[in-house]
Amino acid sequence: MKGIILAGGHGTRLFPLTKATNKHLLPVGREPMLFHPIRQLCDAGITDILVITSTDHMGDVVRCLGSGADFGCSLSYRVQETAGGIAHALALGANFAGGDAVCVLLGDNVFEYSIAPYVEHFRAQGRGARVLLKEVGDPERYGVAALDEHQVIEIEEKPTNPKSHFAVVGLYLYDARVFDIIGAVEPSARGEYEITSVNNAYIASGELQYDVCRGAWTDAGTFDSLAEANAILAKNLNRILPHD
Ligand code: G1P
Repeated sequence: MKGIILAGGHGTRLFPLTKATNKHLLPVGREPMLFHPIRQLCDAGITDILVITSTDHMGDVVRCLGSGADFGCSLSYRVQETAGGIAHALALGANFAGGDAVCVLLGDNVFEYSIAPYVEHFRAQGRGARVLLKEVGDPERYGVAALDEHQVIEIEEKPTNPKSHFAVVGLYLYDARVFDIIGAVEPSARGEYEITSVNNAYIASGELQYDVCRGAWTDAGTFDSLAEANAILAKNLNRILPHD
């Protein structure tokens, strides 16, 4: 399995913190934000990793992360010239994936516990897709999963009237067919190629499974959530907790 970290965008909600740097290089606990998804992937045994970022601060991202040797992994880089949504960015990873399954992490998502068990569950699942859900108080900010007793029946992107409190967090596990599925996705009303559309395509074919995230999780796209991300990682000095 290969790892893909999406670290594009202009971080406008965090302006002026992002005036001179990429959001994903801001400090979280004692390290730049991007160290966390890299450490998570390595912890899950995924050491061939592609970082996709925008042109603005590509040089700084490479200067910060280097070859990956310091983390015990191999890093490749791709530039996303225009922002067109998460699925649009992920499409840039097709050649890198080379027919393997992928573990996709949004570069601003922070997890208190290791993602390793969820990756293992997907390895056992063998095909299709797997997402991670977290119960939140403000589901309208996220992709939201509607569930029956057994499975996710639909995901809605930033719904006005959420059907549950389960946010779909920024960890996505896909088999190699994901790149064909992205090719068939239509842009949403806000003009983006949504990762939610990709996940709904897997739901339609009955191949999307899920885990519920243990421990604290947040993204770090706003001032409040950046402060929370900082608190989560600072508490354990940026160490990722094992599941016993
Ligand atoms: C994105 C996804 C959303 C997901 C969230 C997790 O939203 O579109 O489905 O719940 O990441 O961080 P964004 O942060 O781009 O608004």
